Amino acid sequence: MSKPKQTHIPVLMQQVLDLLAPQAGESFLDLTAGAGGHAGAVLELTMAPAKATLIDRDPEAIDGLRKKFKDTSLLQSDFYSAVKELKGQGKKYDIILADLGVSSLHLEHGLRGFSFNRPGPLDMRMDRGQSLSAEEIVNTWSEADLANILKRYGEERKSRQIARKIVAQRPIHTTDQLAAVVTKTYRIRSRIHPATRTFQALRVAVNDELNQLEKSLPLMLELLAPGGRLAIISFHSLEDRLIKQSFKAATEQGYEAEIYALTKKPVTATPDEIVLNPRARSAKLRAVAKIKK
Ligand SMILES: C[S@@+](CC[C@H](N)C(=O)[O-])C[C@H]1O[C@@H](n2cnc3c(N)ncnc32)[C@H](O)[C@@H]1O
Repeated sequence: MSKPKQTHIPVLMQQVLDLLAPQAGESFLDLTAGAGGHAGAVLELTMAPAKATLIDRDPEAIDGLRKKFKDTSLLQSDFYSAVKELKGQGKKYDIILADLGVSSLHLEHGLRGFSFNRPGPLDMRMDRGQSLSAEEIVNTWSEADLANILKRYGEERKSRQIARKIVAQRPIHTTDQLAAVVTKTYRIRSRIHPATRTFQALRVAVNDELNQLEKSLPLMLELLAPGGRLAIISFHSLEDRLIKQSFKAATEQGYEAEIYALTKKPVTATPDEIVLNPRARSAKLRAVAKIKK
């Protein structure tokens, strides 16, 4: 396996390895393989590339993974479709990992349209084969629907004012145009950029991120082999809430429970890691395991 060219720094790497505790010969499913940082580290320990499946919905990520992982199966798919398919095939895995959200590939390339501080088209599709983009939402959705996603997915206090401004300023085609419209709504400056929550909300809506996660969680648990471990890293409270609830429901089934918690509270990054990799600031890691029987 050749060494990956690192642009994306994997978060909470050691904590993920400690919880997943990969053993030689174990099978591995990475639902959000991205740049393959976590996957590479897990595979160094399992030494079983043929028993691994790496998934990403972004075809560009899959192209990068193809160069790094030679004997491993790679699947370009959203993870909900993938887990449904794998369950249908009766597959089980010793190790499952999901590191949610976007990668540096998305954030650092203005052309992908994810970042309010990089000029580019309002795109935000992780899979550029899908038709719905941020530009379509911003320019065609009703003011009420815009306000609704800003509130639900961005937890934006000024959702209605921002939605009104967006509708008044249409058409909006670029990230910097949208960032400027949102910034005008805020008179007082805070530590985070005023457009942060709007961009998050649009990204979640474009990629249907919360539905993907909510529908996949029970299937991820089913795909665990006896003795298997599942770790999920999330980056905002809406995702963490879904994971927490799903894990809680699975672990609180009394004597029937097959699943037990490996983390009581979410694991977060150390101050040192945050200095090296600011993206780790909001990362929360939770993990569960299936009893051996
Ligand atoms: C944070 S990055 C993962 C980074 C990876 N752990 C590493 O070490 O390189 C998240 C990746 O998941 C992908 N992704 C996000 N949501 C997805 C979904 N619902 N289905 C499949 N892939 C998804 C993104 O395209 C992105 O490449």
